[in-house]
Amino acid sequence: MAGRPAFRVRRAETPLRGRLVAARDKSITHRAILLGALADGESRIEAPLAASADVARTVAAAERLGATVTLDGDALLVRGPVRRESAPWDLDAGASGTTARLLLGVLAGLGEACRLDGDPGLRRRPMARVTRRLVAMGARFSGPADALPIELLPGGSLAGVDHELEVASAQVASACLLAGLFASGTTRVTVPGPCRDHTERMFASFSIPVRRDGRTSAVEGPVAPSPARLRVPVDLSSALYPAVLSLLVPDSELLLEEVGVNPTRTGGLDVLARMGADVGTEAPRRFGEEPVADLRVRASRLVGVDVGPELFPRLLDDVPILAVAAAAAEGTTTFRGVGELRVKESDRVDSIAAMLRAFGGRVETTDDTLVVRGGARLSAGRVDARDDHRIAMAAVILAAVAPGTSRVTGVDVTAQSYPGFAAAMRGAGLDVEEVSDDGAAPAPRRRRGGGRAGP
Ligand code: S3P
Repeated sequence: MAGRPAFRVRRAETPLRGRLVAARDKSITHRAILLGALADGESRIEAPLAASADVARTVAAAERLGATVTLDGDALLVRGPVRRESAPWDLDAGASGTTARLLLGVLAGLGEACRLDGDPGLRRRPMARVTRRLVAMGARFSGPADALPIELLPGGSLAGVDHELEVASAQVASACLLAGLFASGTTRVTVPGPCRDHTERMFASFSIPVRRDGRTSAVEGPVAPSPARLRVPVDLSSALYPAVLSLLVPDSELLLEEVGVNPTRTGGLDVLARMGADVGTEAPRRFGEEPVADLRVRASRLVGVDVGPELFPRLLDDVPILAVAAAAAEGTTTFRGVGELRVKESDRVDSIAAMLRAFGGRVETTDDTLVVRGGARLSAGRVDARDDHRIAMAAVILAAVAPGTSRVTGVDVTAQSYPGFAAAMRGAGLDVEEVSDDGAAPAPRRRRGGGRAGP
């Protein structure tokens, strides 16, 4: 019987060159679909991350709620509004934490009977941080609702509340703001640190007035979104895999196009710059409310740096790939205040440590600290992705600079955020091949020349 797919990766022996359009922004795509489903009429979402397994869960949920979602070339057309008469709803977020948490806000607002579930990994992730906020607004759940599956009871009508979040979580803040669209009065959310503000920006695109003051965002309900047209930038978190690859392979130069550079997301670029990375920002522009640029990345000698907890919310998904850069750098890089990573798709603090050690990296961890000692002699490794897309992709990049041939197993999860990841890296010149984990003959593979890799 064939095992799960694996990647066989050979060390990059030649510089990487060309242009690459990495995967589109997952966070923005989820939000656009949900708001499109709530708006009365057709919204057009250009260049969405349509092929992502996580986004497919949000699309399926929107359809189940009564919206229609169709693909029109490179765009998604979403026609709302939701049809309450199609309740009760039985919904499945799969492995997607963003689908689950944002949807809970919408469902609480709709106030119809429904059940939301997810796969075993998502069932283990904390949900009380969202549901107790929604309960404070008037939502009613059966049982403690601290983990999936969660059952929402019908009839809870919502009122605006002042939320002071203890975790700088965009998912929690967004769930509150989405519920706030249905609540009477003001829903105000204050986050303890700067976290991604795509929801607030997208509210503006869908003509929903939102007031912002420092770390506080407020929406006056009830208010319905109006249909919108927008274009989705490339996901900076996905672009960082080829970016770090290009930094680490001598003489490389890659141009990463249409990358979202929303300042709430660019902590990883700030850290790389402090490490000595040569990353130039070209052609700054906007896609609607979101800032976008092309990033020119040239191979660089990197040094270790201290990454304090204040930076964490601006780079949280990027610690795996930054840790790879740190392993290949001279000196020690310390990531402090990263405890939240223990409740992501895997316990990412442990997964990063195991991944780096598999290649000979030296790393120490505490509950909320990750210390990477650069300059260790790296060698080819075998590592499992632990059902975590970001671990799988970070491991491929480290494999590209470790002498020999490495193997990363369980890589089907890369489709959650970066469908076509291996093909894109091949397009940039990396020798990565999809194989079956049982050691069987390689799966059929299309070779691509250097140059442009598709979105
Ligand atoms: C996301 C927020 C972050 C991030 C996740 C996407 C979002 O999660 O890790 O990949 O789209 O709002 P938290 O809000 O739980 O930190």
